[in-house]
Amino acid sequence: MTAPLLSLEGVSKTFHVRPVLGAVRRVEALRNVTLSVDPGRALALVGESGSGKSTCGRAVIRHFEPSAGTIRFRGEDIFEGWTRQGDRAYLRAVQMVFQDPFASLNPTHTIRHHLERPLRLHGGPGDLEARLRGILSDVELDPATTLEKFPHQLSGGQRQRVSFARALAVGAELIVADEPTSMLDVSIRKSVLDLMRRLKEERNIAFLYITHDIATAHYIAEETAVMFAGQVMERGPSDAVISSPRHAYSKLLISAVPDPARRFDAGADDALAFTRQAEAVRASAARPVAGYREVAPGHFVAYAEAENA
Ligand SMILES: Nc1ncnc2c1ncn2[C@@H]1O[C@H](COP(=O)(O)OP(=O)(O)O)[C@@H](O)[C@H]1O
Ligand SMILES: [Mg+2]
Repeated sequence: MTAPLLSLEGVSKTFHVRPVLGAVRRVEALRNVTLSVDPGRALALVGESGSGKSTCGRAVIRHFEPSAGTIRFRGEDIFEGWTRQGDRAYLRAVQMVFQDPFASLNPTHTIRHHLERPLRLHGGPGDLEARLRGILSDVELDPATTLEKFPHQLSGGQRQRVSFARALAVGAELIVADEPTSMLDVSIRKSVLDLMRRLKEERNIAFLYITHDIATAHYIAEETAVMFAGQVMERGPSDAVISSPRHAYSKLLISAVPDPARRFDAGADDALAFTRQAEAVRASAARPVAGYREVAPGHFVAYAEAENA
């Protein structure tokens, strides 16, 4: 067994939202999350909007410190006891690719500028121009038509490729990709997923792949974790979690994925019954997780206190 590259151990994050009027509201965005990612492998974090996926990714890139728990990279706590050198190495090794590539690209700089700077800063063998071209070819962009352009002159898919190229230029070992294809045209989503898969297989880059699109989780990630209301409901090999989910919430989430092969011909009564049942499952899943049952090797399913009593 390889040691994990990244691990989260009992990570919680509570936000205190202060409205202009009224009392401070506590939002438990992450509750006791335990996960790990092995080198060169991908873990998909799936779940509906608001389940805590992005909060998890942002804790990993150290946007904020968790309220509780530990995040380790190569076994070392990412918030404690690092030399400045170790610290800088972490900031290089872990890169985030966002849903909106514009968010991470400077509109006033060419693609060349975006990639040259990190390449120069972080050194490496070969001359700069050759490395620049190498990285563009890694993300399947044509240097001749890309380098001198500004972000707005590229398509959404090309911009997202530049985001990945930049992560490579910095020397990423782990990429936190937060809904990287959800703003892209459906027709080019798969090519960006293919790119991620190739970076994983050929460059040994590990991914924390955040998505609400379960079908794509399976395509990229060896392992999948289902989140709801800040907790991990189930995690394990993607095949098992997606094809035969064991937790009631995972079943609900996966059954909600539109299946073109299945006709929706249930009557209104059935639809209402389904809605009621879905609400009950969600209410139950929101309760604190008491522990996890390992139902098959590496496949963990949450249980709440009462169920175990
Ligand atoms: N900076 C913040 N301040 C207050 N609440 C936040 C903040 N960031 C996220 N949240 C809340 O935390 C919960 C999880 O959000 P998020 O991690 O963005 O979910 P997801 O990415 O799964 O949609 C939501 O209820 C969201 O409103
Ligand atoms: Mg999000």
